[in-house]
Amino acid sequence: MAKTGFDVDDIRERFPVLHQEVNGRPLVYLDNAATSQKPLSVIEALNHYYTTDNSNIHRGAHALAARATDYYENTRKSVSSFLNAPSEEQIIFTKGTTEGINLVASTFGRKFIHEGDEIIISAMEHHSNIVPWQMLCAEKGATLKVIPITDDGELIMEEYEKLLSSKTKLVSVLHVSNALGTVNPMESIISMAHRAGAKVLVDAAQSTSHFTVDVQALDCDFLVFSAHKLYGPTGLGVLYGKRELLEEMPPYQGGGEMIKEVDFSGTTYNEIPFKFEAGTPNIADVIAFQKALEFVSTVGKEQLLAHENELLTYATEKLGTIKGFIPVGKAKHKVSVLSFLINGMHPFDVGMMLDAVGIAVRTGHHCAQPLMKRFNIEGTVRASFAVYNTKQEIDVLYVSLSRIAKRKN
Ligand code: ALA
Repeated sequence: MAKTGFDVDDIRERFPVLHQEVNGRPLVYLDNAATSQKPLSVIEALNHYYTTDNSNIHRGAHALAARATDYYENTRKSVSSFLNAPSEEQIIFTKGTTEGINLVASTFGRKFIHEGDEIIISAMEHHSNIVPWQMLCAEKGATLKVIPITDDGELIMEEYEKLLSSKTKLVSVLHVSNALGTVNPMESIISMAHRAGAKVLVDAAQSTSHFTVDVQALDCDFLVFSAHKLYGPTGLGVLYGKRELLEEMPPYQGGGEMIKEVDFSGTTYNEIPFKFEAGTPNIADVIAFQKALEFVSTVGKEQLLAHENELLTYATEKLGTIKGFIPVGKAKHKVSVLSFLINGMHPFDVGMMLDAVGIAVRTGHHCAQPLMKRFNIEGTVRASFAVYNTKQEIDVLYVSLSRIAKRKN
């Protein structure tokens, strides 16, 4: 394997799921933007929690409850330092990116968005960063504005500038496009929004797994991501928010844990982060997520990114030589995602043919139908890379894709 300063074979050893055959061929897993695979340490942490520590947290007076609470809160500390948040109280555990965005729409939106206000998103958003704002705008009589993109799949920043005004209350944009791989200029997006007096939510679902995301350097007001795209368990996400906003926002759900005192005459709410974590949380997955963060830190974010960039460049160049290969999304700054079409073929058929030889990719609209409409296509085939992928796997993809394309072109 090409030298990127770390041993990809050693990394692959830590991911049991990679070592299997699918349809009689060694699995080539290139659907990492949908979900990443999990290292053994994460799987073992889940097993360990249920076999030795299982207990509810923040409640029990016994040893197991104390252990589970410590482990759970340790992960919160680790996430806080992973994002360079000012404090761990600003880290809220959610079900995932989608819930994080819905939480902000329901609470920040309920309190701070009013009739006539405007919310800005972009033309490349995932449905989870479109629909909650449409729902909020319909309820409040606010307007949703959309930053257009170029044919290469980059935001048109001059148009963004024109959309900003004193009516803009929130800008919610993805950091990295799940469908195109475009890395958006978040620092500029945020500083421009702040100059207009708007708050900013960063959808970091596709960025935290690839490069360092520092919420203080970005100066974002909210940031959301999912653990499962970052080598962690499914059903778990993180919402970071600025303290003053989180403190001012009403709770998301009512129930246990989010209260200080309940009386039939009224209820007082808990401090952050607990105000936003009603009910028994996803304890096991939070605890196991600690191991995913440790895995990423052991590999090193810079090494990880260098390796993935090398794979993306290699794949873009190699697959680009196939007759009938049409890349979708040619932004100058991209990470990990190669979306494409094979001339004359439906993406789904290409995906099925690749699956028949053990290659896992995603096909379709990637939960970004407005983006597909922008390109006048129904969908794409998407190969997305993670730290355990290799150039040899891209060679396997190249050989199969060449055969598939040759039949048509
Ligand atoms: N958002 C995930 C993807 O892009 C599911 O595939």
